[in-house]
Amino acid sequence: MNATSCDLKVLRQETVAADIMRLTVQWQDPSREPHAGQFYMLRAWAADATPILSRPISVVDFDNQTGALTFLYQLKGEGTHKIAALQPGQTLTVTGPCGNGFDAAALAGKYQRIAVVGGGIGTAPLLLLCKQLCRAGVRPDVYVGFRDTSYGMDRFVPWCHDVFVATDSGNEGHHGLVTDLLDAKNYDIVLTCGPMVMMRGVYQLCAQSGTPCVASLERKMACGLGACLGCTCRTKVGAKTVCKDGPVFKAEEVFD
Ligand code: FES
Repeated sequence: MNATSCDLKVLRQETVAADIMRLTVQWQDPSREPHAGQFYMLRAWAADATPILSRPISVVDFDNQTGALTFLYQLKGEGTHKIAALQPGQTLTVTGPCGNGFDAAALAGKYQRIAVVGGGIGTAPLLLLCKQLCRAGVRPDVYVGFRDTSYGMDRFVPWCHDVFVATDSGNEGHHGLVTDLLDAKNYDIVLTCGPMVMMRGVYQLCAQSGTPCVASLERKMACGLGACLGCTCRTKVGAKTVCKDGPVFKAEEVFD
């Protein structure tokens, strides 16, 4: 699906956890479901106002009956605070879907035992990923790591086989790293999104057991459409833009 730019109406704005918000807007066409891992450039301010750049935000859920499109985002700066100030009925400019995303139907057609591993706000694309995998016939196991308290995990339960939580503080689930919980050889493929250090750890576990691994990268973005080259990363198969060639890559291409 090609990226389009349009003004969409806000349906809901919810606080999920400290500094974590969920924004739901009315997408035009319920049949145009994005791939999990795709993102949208959001702009809740005039073209000549600051910040200059729109904000790339991951889609966390999509309702293919109503066209409700939901984003999960962290309050980080001026742009996300302006997005958080939007009230139901107001509009914002949405450009997308951007990037390649995970092809859940192809993954579920090829692999039976799938692990999905995420950390912090990097769990955002994983809910839609689990939903799309489940609809395609595979219920993945989900491993998530948070600093102190998980958020949004209740929504994963209907789409998953099992959910494992780790926290740095030990406040919830396993006290330690999410990678402590993952035995990659139990899976046919591992899909991951989160901090680079976590994804590198996931990739290394997968490499040891010969398990394929696919990672969704995060980068600062300007255009989000492959035009400015500001998000270019070096991979083992040449320079790639995270926003257009990615954000989903074979982990072996981007990690050592
Ligand atoms: Fe412009 Fe990726 S953000 S090319």
